[in-house]
Amino acid sequence: MYAANNQRYDSMQYRRSGRSGIQLPAISLGLWHNFGGVDNFENSRAMLRRAFDLGIIHFDLANNYGPPYGSAEEAFGQILKKDFLPYRDELIISTKAGWDMWPGPYGNFGSRKYMLASLDQSLKRMGLDYVDIFYHHRPDPETPMEESMGALDTAVRSGRALYAGISAYNAKQTAEALKILRDLGTPCLIHQPKYSMFVRDPEQGLFDVLEKEGVGAIVFSPLAQGLLSDRYLHGIPTDSRAARDFFLKKKDISEAMLARIRELNDIAALRGQTLAEMAVAWVLRDPRVTSALVGTSRVSQVDDNVRALNNLKFSAAELQRIDGILAQKQPAA
Ligand SMILES: NC(=O)c1ccc[n+]([C@@H]2O[C@H](COP(=O)([O-])OP(=O)(O)OC[C@H]3O[C@@H](n4cnc5c(N)ncnc54)[C@H](OP(=O)(O)O)[C@@H]3O)[C@@H](O)[C@H]2O)c1
Repeated sequence: MYAANNQRYDSMQYRRSGRSGIQLPAISLGLWHNFGGVDNFENSRAMLRRAFDLGIIHFDLANNYGPPYGSAEEAFGQILKKDFLPYRDELIISTKAGWDMWPGPYGNFGSRKYMLASLDQSLKRMGLDYVDIFYHHRPDPETPMEESMGALDTAVRSGRALYAGISAYNAKQTAEALKILRDLGTPCLIHQPKYSMFVRDPEQGLFDVLEKEGVGAIVFSPLAQGLLSDRYLHGIPTDSRAARDFFLKKKDISEAMLARIRELNDIAALRGQTLAEMAVAWVLRDPRVTSALVGTSRVSQVDDNVRALNNLKFSAAELQRIDGILAQKQPAA
């Protein structure tokens, strides 16, 4: 029987999502990898327990996380039932629809038909009456944005979700989506963009739109899927994401990339941090970032990433040195 750590709120920091009533932990845990049907259930469970014990009260899912698709939600549902039901009201649980989920024209993209059916399936898999945040996972170029945002509005009005979110929308699409949602009376709580030292696109306008509109930002893959850590400094470990050569490719771990990672690792060491800690701290240096949405494959990584909070401040000289290293490199992951 799991009993959560009584000190779980003592050291985590919480940041307000835009101008909403919701605060999120500065570090949130995503279940994209390592929580699927092919993964070790007890390891997944141990990571979730450890995260919650450290004040990580936001878990992020999507319909197609696994593999196989849907299995991360199923595993999460089982863990929720075993360990977290007494804590349901302390948790922010999110899911998404927008990528391929089931065959045929109603199992992908952004129709109302797909999004609401997918949300119902997600609730069933997780054994939940509602999720806290329901996201449109990506913009659909062929469906009118009014239809996709209308589905988010219905999700909230029908009680299946408490808040609406969008992911992977660029600055212009975001401005449009935020207006539609506001006009519908369901303001967008949060945007989920990809952001790390290696992928800085949100700095080109998206963060400005979110700040102006009072919408939060939870940034995914802040470790560039593990590149921004010491994981690959001595080759590609067989149990690493790059070894699977799918979402993170072996070819991405080039000599040039490793040279940048080593230089960043040196700066992290001077700050008294691991590179993973520095990567998390670096995204959180921007007050417009509500939460760093990390993934983990083992409990020790949860601990390491949370230790980032011990040093979130960067001197101007450190930032300049980091910018100099990044300027030598094409965005990679
Ligand atoms: N909205 C979207 O379109 C979208 C897309 C992608 C992700 N996401 C969300 O963002 C979450 C995080 O994405 P991500 O998994 O790519 O994030 P990430 O934090 O950039 O990468 C996670 C990987 O980095 C390695 N790692 C983590 N902590 C480490 C540490 N302290 N030391 C060494 N290595 C460490 C692990 O790799 P190993 O497995 O090799 O150990 C882990 O699986 C997802 O779970 C999902 O919720 C959303």
